[in-house]
Amino acid sequence: MGTAHVVVVGLGYVGLPLAVRSAEAGFRVTGLDIDEQRVKRLGAGDSYVEDISSDRLLTALDSGRLRVSRDPAEATGFDICVITVPTPLRDGAPDLSHIESAGRAVAPQLSPGATVVLESTSYPGTTDEVLRPLLEAGSGLRAGQDFHLGYSPERIDPGNPHWHLENTPKVVSGIDDASLEAVEAFYDRLVHRTVPVSTPRTAELTKLLENTFRQVNIALVNELAMCARPLGVDIWEAVEAAATKPFGFMPFYPGPGVGGHCLPVDPSYLSWQVRRQLRHDVRFVSLAQEINEHMPEHVVDRVEAGIGRELAGARLLVLGLAYKRNTGDVRESPAVTVAGLLLARGARVRAVEPYADPRELPADVLCVELTADELRAADGVVITTDHDSFDYDLVAHEASYVLDTRNRCRAAHIDRL
Ligand SMILES: NC(=O)c1ccc[n+]([C@@H]2O[C@H](COP(=O)([O-])OP(=O)(O)OC[C@H]3O[C@@H](n4cnc5c(N)ncnc54)[C@H](O)[C@@H]3O)[C@@H](O)[C@H]2O)c1
Repeated sequence: MGTAHVVVVGLGYVGLPLAVRSAEAGFRVTGLDIDEQRVKRLGAGDSYVEDISSDRLLTALDSGRLRVSRDPAEATGFDICVITVPTPLRDGAPDLSHIESAGRAVAPQLSPGATVVLESTSYPGTTDEVLRPLLEAGSGLRAGQDFHLGYSPERIDPGNPHWHLENTPKVVSGIDDASLEAVEAFYDRLVHRTVPVSTPRTAELTKLLENTFRQVNIALVNELAMCARPLGVDIWEAVEAAATKPFGFMPFYPGPGVGGHCLPVDPSYLSWQVRRQLRHDVRFVSLAQEINEHMPEHVVDRVEAGIGRELAGARLLVLGLAYKRNTGDVRESPAVTVAGLLLARGARVRAVEPYADPRELPADVLCVELTADELRAADGVVITTDHDSFDYDLVAHEASYVLDTRNRCRAAHIDRL
């Protein structure tokens, strides 16, 4: 398989690391994306994904094993095609249009013996019921008989310095034994350990289980955080103490809500499918969503109570707009919601966000540097994203009031969630 041609469709947080890793593993890789700007940047060796440095991207491009393009014809005769396109929600329902258009685009390039793998997160049945018919119709070939088809969920954790694509076990599946074998053989070249499961449906549910588990546990601790304070308990101390139990407990921490492309979205894929097929409501998902979605409002109420004046006319400094520490990803970010709620209540809002692309930030929030002057001039500071680059000593020293939603600023006078 040394010179096999790998095509990765969708070069985002998931697809770009996969394309670069495949090139490093010796495959001939074509990365396809419909976004002209992105393709241009990547072609020039300019990475927009934090986990892939521009140096690493350039090395892959210079090796001649990676090229990027917008033209699906470049996929002609591929051996392996991995689809890593977005799966957002539209009006609360799964929007599989990107998977559908990616499937339609690659189907004519399918040849007998090739393998197609879906990595986008979706509900059980997507590979078999949505992707498979499109590939078959567009290629005139039969899945299983003429080409291999499988699903392998991505577990990438952007910004995580320890766990990355290579050392995170990868769940793999195929629609039949031969497909599983082909999918597993491909990923065995990229990652240290593959975990085969019996069907794509199982692999699809595995991913949703993982993310629903996180969503529900974060909601649990968020709800306890809202109750603990009036009970005179510091929730952070209680979680840390519980985490010393060597079995049967796993710590989750409260925060201003959940964000990103996964937690606010993936559990809805699960509940939508269960409702549609079984007419059953996954109550844990709806309850967790309700609690997590309420957190930004709770944070804003706490800020108002903390600064001791009404928010209208107050000057607030929001530290971090990304949904996750040390990344610039503002998708579905609760920090952005907090800033928006503060504005809606009449506050004058400034924010410090060193990583995000300024074009993706809300236009009505003034972005500033973290300085002593900014801290002193604010009636209150709210830490929404605990980027490592923030000077927390300066924050603790200069700000008149701080609400820390991330337990990062440890000085005694700091208010915590
Ligand atoms: N970001 C994560 O941490 C993460 C983790 C696990 C799983 N996932 C899942 O992986 C999938 C991709 O997520 P992402 O974060 O990489 O998204 P992303 O938005 O970062 O990247 C997706 C890319 O696909 C491109 N695209 C869209 N339609 C296309 C098409 N028809 N043909 C070619 N390119 C197309 C977009 O232009 C974009 O560059 C989603 O299903 C997501 O739920 C994401």
